[in-house]
Amino acid sequence: MSSTLIKITDLVKSFPIGKGKFTALNQINLEFSKGEFTGFVGPSGSGKTTLLNIIGSLDIPTKGTATVLGKSVSNLSKKEAADLRNNHLGFIFQTYNLLPVYTVYENVELPLLLQNISASERKKAILQSLEWLGLTDKIKSRPAQLSGGECQRVSIARAMVKEPEIVLADEPTANLDAKNSHHILQTMEKLNSELKTTFIFATHDEKVIQYLKRKISLEDGKVVADEQITK
Ligand SMILES: Nc1ncnc2c1ncn2[C@@H]1O[C@H](COP(=O)(O)OP(=O)(O)OP(=O)(O)O)[C@@H](O)[C@H]1O
Ligand SMILES: [Mg+2]
Repeated sequence: MSSTLIKITDLVKSFPIGKGKFTALNQINLEFSKGEFTGFVGPSGSGKTTLLNIIGSLDIPTKGTATVLGKSVSNLSKKEAADLRNNHLGFIFQTYNLLPVYTVYENVELPLLLQNISASERKKAILQSLEWLGLTDKIKSRPAQLSGGECQRVSIARAMVKEPEIVLADEPTANLDAKNSHHILQTMEKLNSELKTTFIFATHDEKVIQYLKRKISLEDGKVVADEQITK
């Protein structure tokens, strides 16, 4: 079996603006294999989030195809897209998106409630995931009682709890100081090497960029460089 997880072919994404349109992604061709630790880098407005959203089946291409785990995102029904996201993808957002009334434990449990998993299995997965992220002593806290770095770690635990094949992270360090950023990146590096989880970032943070094993540079919706980084 091929290890290609994602294949993007001649992808164009344009948005209607008034009577015209704005081309946010222009003729993108990329492939991603299992276990990559990669990211889209480039200036604000270059198309990083747009591309990540298409890979995450939150949006579809205007032209061309994006095939994720063997399925073209353009052809998925709403339910199929939701199944792809719930069962195979993990999302980490800049703003965490934690639910304030829920505890750390309950926030991490949410993606598992969408799946058919027993309470005891859920508990095992949640405790494992919180341990990975060093949050065992915060299980009963609510987001308002946590620091920004801790909230971001909860959001990573929530993305990792299902052990997804692919984690998509949009500016995951935007609200963190240098120490927390490095801690989080080292944790993701560890999950990448131990679980072979594929990570794809969208970022302009130099701290994130220095961890990438492959750096894909976007400018005005085009890939202008695609480099393997040897450390
Ligand atoms: N729904 C939309 N309608 C119209 N234009 C859009 C829409 N979404 C994105 N764009 C435009 O597409 C371009 C790319 O946006 P995108 O959010 O992908 O950039 P980005 O590289 O993630 O930037 P940043 O670093 O600021 O997050 C921008 O010029 C943006 O204004
Ligand atoms: Mg963005």
